[in-house]
Amino acid sequence: MSTPDVLIGARAVVFDAYGTLLDVHSAVQRHAGSVGSDAKSVSDTWRQKQLEYSWVHSLCGRYTAFWTLTERALDYALARHPDVDPSLRPALLEAYRRLDAYPEVSGTLDALRAKGLKTGILSNGDTAMLDMAVRSAALHDHLDAVLSVDPAGIFKTSPRAYDLVLERLGFETREIVFVSSNRWDVAGAAAYGFTPVWVNRTGQPDEYPDLAPVQVIDRLNALIP
Ligand code: LAC
Repeated sequence: MSTPDVLIGARAVVFDAYGTLLDVHSAVQRHAGSVGSDAKSVSDTWRQKQLEYSWVHSLCGRYTAFWTLTERALDYALARHPDVDPSLRPALLEAYRRLDAYPEVSGTLDALRAKGLKTGILSNGDTAMLDMAVRSAALHDHLDAVLSVDPAGIFKTSPRAYDLVLERLGFETREIVFVSSNRWDVAGAAAYGFTPVWVNRTGQPDEYPDLAPVQVIDRLNALIP
């Protein structure tokens, strides 16, 4: 299958943050020695519950800051893993505030800008946590827009969340290339009408067959032909 050049006709490339630009598992990895043999399961449970809480709160109309949901998800993950020392909670949360960016992120953002494209983030992260994450990963100088779903008061995959991109950048829907490692977010972006790209770093099986990406890549710099 030939690789479509998704950047033809594009005006901006907008990225999901957590899992796409920032490695959500780097928080537990940083304390892997103290967490012990359950580290991977703790990190997976933390992430899965954080996402579940975002969708449940959206569906029942009870938007709650993503940081609060992140804290509650960690509490659940620690409760599910009683062998892990619960006094690690503050250190794990502190690490989550300052996640590692994937190594190719800043170079990819600069290469996109060199092609005349705007670069941005649309994240479920609330404004405060997103700002902290972007600054601690030193990404702020590489981005034209850092958008939290906060003003929409609902999480992705609500169209009201994706609306924020057009409100800020002002382009046509299809002129926005939306890049996410989260297949559910790619589905939301496809439903909305963005040009969706899936970053499948770990060879996950495809899903949401009626809401497909136009391109699948295994790392962000594969966006640049
Ligand atoms: C984000 C997370 C949820 O929106 O991946 O950044």
